[in-house]
Amino acid sequence: MFVSENLSVNDKNRLVIGKNDTIELAEKFGTPLYVMDEDLIRKNCRTYKNAMDKYYDGKGLVLYANKAFCSLYTCRIAKEEGLGIDVVSGGELYTAIKADFPMDKVCFHGNNKTYDELELAVKNNVGHIIVDNVYELDTLNDIAGKYQKIMKIMFRIKPGIDAHTHSFVQTGQIDSKFGVALENGEAFDIIEKASKLENVKVTGLHCHIGSQIFDIEPFCKAAEVMMGLIGEVKNKIGIEIEELNLGGGYGIMYTEKDDPIEYDKYIEKISVIVKSEAQKHNVKLPFIYMEPGRSIVASAGITLYTVGGVKDIKNVRKYISVDGGMGDNPRYILYQSEYSAVVANKANAEPCEKVTVAGKCCESGDILLKDAMMPKIEVGDTLAVLATGAYNYSMASNYNRIPRPAVVAVSNGEAKIVIKRETYEDLIKNDII
Ligand code: LLP
Repeated sequence: MFVSENLSVNDKNRLVIGKNDTIELAEKFGTPLYVMDEDLIRKNCRTYKNAMDKYYDGKGLVLYANKAFCSLYTCRIAKEEGLGIDVVSGGELYTAIKADFPMDKVCFHGNNKTYDELELAVKNNVGHIIVDNVYELDTLNDIAGKYQKIMKIMFRIKPGIDAHTHSFVQTGQIDSKFGVALENGEAFDIIEKASKLENVKVTGLHCHIGSQIFDIEPFCKAAEVMMGLIGEVKNKIGIEIEELNLGGGYGIMYTEKDDPIEYDKYIEKISVIVKSEAQKHNVKLPFIYMEPGRSIVASAGITLYTVGGVKDIKNVRKYISVDGGMGDNPRYILYQSEYSAVVANKANAEPCEKVTVAGKCCESGDILLKDAMMPKIEVGDTLAVLATGAYNYSMASNYNRIPRPAVVAVSNGEAKIVIKRETYEDLIKNDII
């Protein structure tokens, strides 16, 4: 009935997440409120991990892509579930360090890592740096030399795959700011150059073709291309690549129009391809990494809002305004992303009218749902927007000086705050008069 499996309705006709009544959560913690179902996050982690064990004999590591929702809390869950993580900035790396995350299971990404960020990674013995470009390669080699270390690196390759997703989140094609291309020989040049440097060791190749992709084909194609490249690197420059990181990007269900594949199927299919391609190209079976972000946390999250103004502009549109918006969820204004919502205090009510749910920012595009069929919504109702666990909190802003909401984690009937609500004082704490 709902887009996420962990939601139900209780006998008071209220939406329930992780055995918690959402109206009680809203009353206790206030709105807007991000609620994360910890049991579902852990279940998703296990689905990937078990698939890696089952289909690839455990010769791989699933990395949680932190950018989907980075916090001490999510790092701790990933650690407890035996996953590695992908970090993409000094801030994400710092969070992982503070969460006592095992650094050998961290891959550091980014197309423009600064000297300071690389130094932080080197000092903390980050497992792999996913090198994006020649400038970064030289800088890293220098820093590693300064600390007398040899850093393991992978190269971000653009495999030339066109994945069917929003153009802002497509990354596998040559016209992308990420990584080095195959078509023009850049990839070979950088691998060859790195092989001659003293303080880096090329262990792997990486690709990530995009995000919110439902089709399994582009992932299979990417695995094939990357295995071909491993073969060519061995033949042409005599380097044996031992590791292959295939990125993330697996789609999830935001509305009933979305049709995701079960997550373990990706690893099942890709394992078969990597194994057969390894034989075909006469190379060692690589240790593989996968980097799901969205599919681990998105469905586990909902956002609770309180309905304020209801504005019915006859023959034009009916606006329902809530106490959050693009500050806590900028995905509509950025990508026109579609969401599903439930009126949490009358969760079984039938949809009866078309409404547009707007946020409270001073911006006309500040919309959460456009022209959605909803039950009758009244001032004071609690609206739950579903599947907001990924790229909501992590992309939140203080636009209009609106404090970021708290994050509450629920598990088996218990609820605890894992990130405090920002206060007005927090908003001005770095202002200097
Ligand atoms: N690995 C790399 C190198 C990535 O760049 C990304 C996402 C992932 C893994 C995780 O992809 P996922 O499994 O979450 O799709 N803000 C956008 C999504 C941007 C994705 C950026 N990279 C959104 O809200 O849709």
